[in-house]
Amino acid sequence: MNAAQEIAAGYATSGRAVELGAVVVDGQVDATALVRLPLATLNRHGLIAGATGTGKTKTLQLIAEQLSAAGVPVLLADIKGDLSGLARAGEPSDRTATRAAETGDDWQPTAFPVRSLSLGTGGPGVPVRATVTSFGPILLAKVLGLNDTQESTLGLIFHWADARGLALLDTKDLRAVITHLTSDEGKEDLRSLGGVSAATAGVILRALSNLEAQGGDEFFGEPELEVADLMRTGQVTLLEVADLQSRPALFSTFLMWLLAELFHELPEAGDLDAPKLVFVLDEAHLLFKDASKAFLGQIEQTVKLIRSKGVGVFFCTQLPTDIPNAVLSQLGARVQHALRAFTPEDQKALSQTVKTYPTTPHYDLGKALTTLGIGEAIVTVLSERGAPTPVAWTRLRAPRSLMGTIGMDAIRDAANSSDLHGKYAETIDRESAYEKLTAKVVEPAPEPEAPKPEKQEPGGLEKVLASAPVKSFLRSAASALGREITRGLFGTAKKRR
Ligand SMILES: Nc1ncnc2c1ncn2[C@@H]1O[C@H](COP(=O)(O)OP(=O)(O)OP(=O)(O)O)[C@@H](O)[C@H]1O
Ligand SMILES: [Mg+2]
Repeated sequence: MNAAQEIAAGYATSGRAVELGAVVVDGQVDATALVRLPLATLNRHGLIAGATGTGKTKTLQLIAEQLSAAGVPVLLADIKGDLSGLARAGEPSDRTATRAAETGDDWQPTAFPVRSLSLGTGGPGVPVRATVTSFGPILLAKVLGLNDTQESTLGLIFHWADARGLALLDTKDLRAVITHLTSDEGKEDLRSLGGVSAATAGVILRALSNLEAQGGDEFFGEPELEVADLMRTGQVTLLEVADLQSRPALFSTFLMWLLAELFHELPEAGDLDAPKLVFVLDEAHLLFKDASKAFLGQIEQTVKLIRSKGVGVFFCTQLPTDIPNAVLSQLGARVQHALRAFTPEDQKALSQTVKTYPTTPHYDLGKALTTLGIGEAIVTVLSERGAPTPVAWTRLRAPRSLMGTIGMDAIRDAANSSDLHGKYAETIDRESAYEKLTAKVVEPAPEPEAPKPEKQEPGGLEKVLASAPVKSFLRSAASALGREITRGLFGTAKKRR
């Protein structure tokens, strides 16, 4: 058996799989040596990485197409609009024909069922929203760019509102609560919290104003996105984030909110033949940039736990080193496109990447990773038995749908005629904290308050708020009180449906 066939033998599956492409050895592609990603191990997650222009987005497109065809729903962030081409059949060309022949693919132009969503009402897709209450303090702190101490304070503020069943639906609700707590009438309430400094509250209010100015106010509110709307058989859902540059933190935390929602809503699934949903986190570096310890810890937990719900998560980023080791080590599939090796930092990232691969007698990985062609990648996945497959230099198949965008107008037209339009297009403003506090109908809540620090050093309050026991109390605030809002992963609110 030659090397290409030997490698491909490690990719044989008995169940269904995503066909990624064909093995390349010594520059020669073998169209009969297939590299595939078993559907049964997709809930063991994956990484798609590579320098700009090396083929990451086309790889995502290719994987999404085959999942859709296999009936698996997929959610992808469409950062530059170029995944919108999934909705249209691809255009045959000589290049596509050549690639199809090289990768053992009977390529047919194919369109896939796509629904486009946007964060808030400003984008081209169907607007989606989440409430401030449901987002919770940890995710909101990330969006607001708060430090650990400010994050703890925000946690106390949420706790106060949660305990009173005060719904924080939109940003003006949160503003009303903070304003109340720092007002003369709110003094008692503030004291009951163990104290929140007016200075810190002021910082949070200012951060909230910035968020509102960046359009955050049209994202937070109702109707809140229901995860059931992402789960339709074979449905591809694109989150259109053309304006990513203006609010990167909102985008990345929204995706974590969605994952936490999925975790709360989906039943335990055990091992499945195919995942219930595959979730693709593009521009994953944004998620980890400036992230607090608590936030990072929660990502790690979520990725670990979501697997048992039959959800696969794929991170997509330029460098694998963008992703913390605790998360990276949980990603079973690797599709590594070419890396650059210009600077000493590049070199370091390269050698670190090489170390994360199983050893291979067939390739010099350091060299391979810098000489891969466009639309080629170094692949290793988990076999159906859960063992890493042999390292394969893979020429990837070409997507069957349109490579490139269908244009903003077409995305907008499709969204306006989407079956989700009626449900989500209009913002609802029902009675919430803002209305209640404005009408001064808040009642005191007879429930256990945040534990008071035993020894309170003068001026050491902020430190106490940031202390581990207080934090964990805030995050696991489960109460005997029926009306209290309870929080789970990421401190997102658990709903009773
Ligand atoms: N599997 C493939 N089949 C055919 N052509 C491909 C494939 N992958 C990449 N290409 C070609 O390479 C170009 C760049 O690919 P792609 O847009 O996926 O890069 P990228 O890594 O996502 O870049 P960026 O980081 O800039 O988003 C494509 O427009 C296409 O012409
Ligand atoms: Mg791309």
